Amino acid sequence: MSILDIGCGPGTIIAGLSKIVVDGKITGLDVTDPIIERARSTFPMSEFPNLTFTVGNAMDLSEIKDNSFDVVHAHQVLVHLTDSVKALKEFYRICKPGGIVACREGNGRSVLSLKPDLSAIRQYWDNTIAPMDRNGAHIDARGHLEEWVRTAGFQKENIVLHMGELRFPSHAEGMKGEGAEQAIKSGIATRDQMNVWREAWEEFDRTEGHELVIENGEILCWKEPL
Ligand SMILES: C[S@@+](CC[C@H](N)C(=O)[O-])C[C@H]1O[C@@H](n2cnc3c(N)ncnc32)[C@H](O)[C@@H]1O
Repeated sequence: MSILDIGCGPGTIIAGLSKIVVDGKITGLDVTDPIIERARSTFPMSEFPNLTFTVGNAMDLSEIKDNSFDVVHAHQVLVHLTDSVKALKEFYRICKPGGIVACREGNGRSVLSLKPDLSAIRQYWDNTIAPMDRNGAHIDARGHLEEWVRTAGFQKENIVLHMGELRFPSHAEGMKGEGAEQAIKSGIATRDQMNVWREAWEEFDRTEGHELVIENGEILCWKEPL
């Protein structure tokens, strides 16, 4: 079985799948070079021989032939794209007949629960989604999933949609070290802002029953066999 994880980020999900589908050809793809470098060093071929990582753009996968993968998977990726239908058309094209396209996408505008309800975390959240809005991405991707996959070519009877929730882990780690320095350098936040957010996330970590929950949707789409 061949699996492609589009927008694989640090590679955690696809590395897990590579351990389950040990005879498979498993690939992680992301648009960001340093992320792919990091994924390669975290999950080296010596320990993950069936797993490779590659740089590519979800909206233009022209280097991948038609009908190449049994499973095309994307987790919280469409939400970042300016043209999700274009990406899904590519997912459809590179998926084998009889194969599956699987996506999980949230609605960043819907904070269902935040415990403890700290204004600094709400401010951090608004700050995180604002550039996506400005860039024309669909922060509410969850609500568009069915319409998008239908436009991309999937038949209604070959689609299963499930609406649920997504629980975020703490973002405290991202508020320090290299990640924080890069965010400060690129103007995402000032050092003072970063310190306020770090303290808030640390308080989040210390709080019993902490949670940050948003709306989430999962869609499975079968491509018609030939
Ligand atoms: C929220 S992260 C999700 C990472 C991973 N799927 C996960 O759930 O752990 C979104 C990822 O999508 C990637 N991404 C954004 N735009 C992309 C594009 N046009 N093509 C491929 N990847 C993209 C980002 O670099 C980032 O790694």
